[in-house]
Amino acid sequence: MKDVAFYTESFGCQMNAYDTEVISSLLASRGAREVSSPEEADCIVVNTCSVRDHAERRAIGRLLDLSRHRRAMLAVCGCMAQRLGEELFDIVPSVRVIAGTGAYAGLPMAIERALSTGERFALLGYDGEAAYEILPRAGPESVSRYVAITRGCESYCSYCIVPYLRGPLRSRSASSIVEEAGALERAGTREITLLGQNVIAYRDGETDFPALARRILDETGIPRLRFLTSHPRDVTADLFDLMASQPRLCGHIHLPVQSGNDRVLAAMNRGYTRDRYLALLAEGRSRVPDLAVTSDVIVGFPGETPREFDDTIDLVRRAMFDSAFTFMYSARAGTAAAAVPDDVSADEKKRRLAILNEAVQEERGRILRSQLGATAEILLDGAVEKGETRWLKGRTPQFRNVLVRADAGAPGGFVRVVLSRLLNFTFEGEPVEAP
Ligand code: SAH
Ligand code: SF4
Ligand code: F3S
Repeated sequence: MKDVAFYTESFGCQMNAYDTEVISSLLASRGAREVSSPEEADCIVVNTCSVRDHAERRAIGRLLDLSRHRRAMLAVCGCMAQRLGEELFDIVPSVRVIAGTGAYAGLPMAIERALSTGERFALLGYDGEAAYEILPRAGPESVSRYVAITRGCESYCSYCIVPYLRGPLRSRSASSIVEEAGALERAGTREITLLGQNVIAYRDGETDFPALARRILDETGIPRLRFLTSHPRDVTADLFDLMASQPRLCGHIHLPVQSGNDRVLAAMNRGYTRDRYLALLAEGRSRVPDLAVTSDVIVGFPGETPREFDDTIDLVRRAMFDSAFTFMYSARAGTAAAAVPDDVSADEKKRRLAILNEAVQEERGRILRSQLGATAEILLDGAVEKGETRWLKGRTPQFRNVLVRADAGAPGGFVRVVLSRLLNFTFEGEPVEAP
């Protein structure tokens, strides 16, 4: 692919962002050259998401936009490519290559041939895991990187399309994960986030998720380790014990609750009750006092009554979430929930979402304000301009955003600060001497 210039764009979750890096390194390893704007590209690779109807409409809008204004050929990857398959050729005529979530290894060849002959390729099969083991990933060395530890999902939450598009759960071998973490550390990475639809379901022989995290901490010097996402059904106390005993394992857990009502949770096939969820938070906080919790919440699931929705608001008022992503239910063809009527009207979903967002933001403000005056160690990961002033930005172990003066350090460095002010959910930090 010597003379091929490619450009990538990624929609959807962190797993897609990671896959996009894998695709970039795959193409680069065959000699293609990554460029930073679609105008310079011969081939534009768009990695897409199908989780809600809105995500698909955005991706298709972007693809149409890219095909109208540029000469480049389009390759569509990821979840929407898997779901729509060859239909995409009709929806967006300049698409030449379609590659599903398990078929990236064939991309270089398909792109090369599509460019030279104008042929179209739809790769929707499954290459096998070996295709994704330890690729030297492209891109500038960066402070914080993702490492996928599982692929697929077999939780089958009734609303969710992901298991149908990403296949059953597969865990990578622990040694290859440790190897990748070590390689990133040697390349300058200071923080690794382990990725999976449900990392807690990880298993390689005797190695479960806490054991894997312990191995990475023992066998690499990576200063910070995070993980995303955790299913409340599967989290056990030993994870919190590990967090409490290992300061390098950050005290933040993304623990999607989805609903605060037991009937809705059962209909979602989530495998826990509201009381069990709240008890898990209490258990976590008793072992890790400064634990930060973030979440995902859906409003307007089929049959959700106003009173059941009130239970969700009540849970948000008790859970002390640092923040939460909030969504209106979107029926996805083929899922269990799509077999029952989507009977909460669009207006009612919007009304519930607005109420939910207000509760989430209020609680967020309350939790963050309670941190004012506290000391935290932040990992600097970049710079921002605000008006005339240049700031460095970083995060606490709890994943809270902090800005510090530009002379406080450099990206990749750690700084101890007092959280002195709060503006729009971002702290300003005053550097202090380490004790
Ligand atoms: N595996 C992760 C992420 C799944 S997708 C997890 O289980 O947490 C991210 C979020 O999108 C989900 O947590 C859920 O809140 C939301 N989501 C998934 N399917 C949805 C649907 N059909 N309609 C609305 N929101 C949905
Ligand atoms: Fe979807 Fe549930 Fe799997 Fe998350 S755990 S990806 S919500 S099926
Ligand atoms: Fe979207 Fe696929 Fe991720 S549907 S949320 S890109 S797993």
